[in-house]
Amino acid sequence: MIELKNVCLSFGDKQILKNISLKVQDNTIKAILGPSGVGKSTILKLMLGLIKPDCGKVLVDDTDITSMKEIELYEIRRKMGMVFQGNALFDSLTISQNLGFFLRENLNLPEPEVTQRVGEQIRFAGLEGYEDKLPESLSGGMRKRVAIGRALIFKPHMILFDEPTAGLDPVSSKKILSLISELRHNNNLGAVIVTHIIDDVFHSADCVAVLYQGEIIFDDVTEKLHDSQHPFIRSILSDKILEL
Ligand SMILES: Nc1ncnc2c1ncn2[C@@H]1O[C@H](COP(=O)(O)OP(=O)(O)OP(=O)(O)O)[C@@H](O)[C@H]1O
Ligand SMILES: [Mg+2]
Repeated sequence: MIELKNVCLSFGDKQILKNISLKVQDNTIKAILGPSGVGKSTILKLMLGLIKPDCGKVLVDDTDITSMKEIELYEIRRKMGMVFQGNALFDSLTISQNLGFFLRENLNLPEPEVTQRVGEQIRFAGLEGYEDKLPESLSGGMRKRVAIGRALIFKPHMILFDEPTAGLDPVSSKKILSLISELRHNNNLGAVIVTHIIDDVFHSADCVAVLYQGEIIFDDVTEKLHDSQHPFIRSILSDKILEL
C-alpha cells in the first residue's frame, strides 16, 4: 500500500502540491488524472522516494520512506515496478536483452533463471518472435509492452505507469489498458496510472484521484466521477481529453 499524507512540494517559488493526501491499496488500479504540468509525474517520483516532500509523509506498506537513505530505498523500490512515459528502453539492446538487463546487472541472477523470467515476460506481453529485434523496429504499443515486461520481471507488488497510452493509437491504447487490467486479475498486482486521458481511467481504473491546481478535487471509485459537480470535472467529462 502507498500513502501520501499531507504532502506539500514547491519547485522554487512555485507550489506544485498543496497538502495532498491519497492512498493506493494493494490489488487495486488507481488512476491519478490531471492536466499537463499539474504534478502527476512528481507524485510518482515521491512514491519511489526519488524526491522528498517539503512537508508531510510518504508511506509504503506503513513504513515512512520520507527520511530513508538511498540504500534503504533500494529495497522499497523493488516492491514497485516503474513504466516510464518514454519507456526508457536501451536502443542498442535486443528485446530479450532489455528485459533481462536489470536481472543480470542488479540481481546477479544465474543465467537459466534470467532466461526463464525473460521467457515468461515475452509470452505475457505477446512478443514471441521479437526476442532478437531492437526496440526501434517495434511499434509504439509493442515497445510499451516491453517496458511493462521489464518492470514486471522483478515481481513487484505494485506497478507505476506514467502516461501509459501517451502517443499510442486507439487500438494499441486499448491493448495496453487490457494488459494492465490483466495484471491485477492474474498476478494480484496493484497499479497506479498517471494520465491526462479520461478514457484511460474509465477503461482500467477501479478508483481515481483528480489533481487540479495543486489539490485533490476528487478521490473515489471511478463510477462516481459522473456524479461530481466540480466544474473542472464536468468540463473534462464533456471534452474527454484534458488539454490546458
Ligand atoms: N526538478 C524540477 N525542478 C523544477 N521544476 C520542476 C521539476 N520537476 C517538475 N517541475 C515542474 O513542476 C510541475 C509539475 O511537473 P510534472 O512533471 O510532475 O507534471 P505532470 O503533471 O507530470 O505533467 P505532464 O502531463 O506534462 O507530464 C511542472 O510545472 C514542472 O515544470
Ligand atoms: Mg508527467
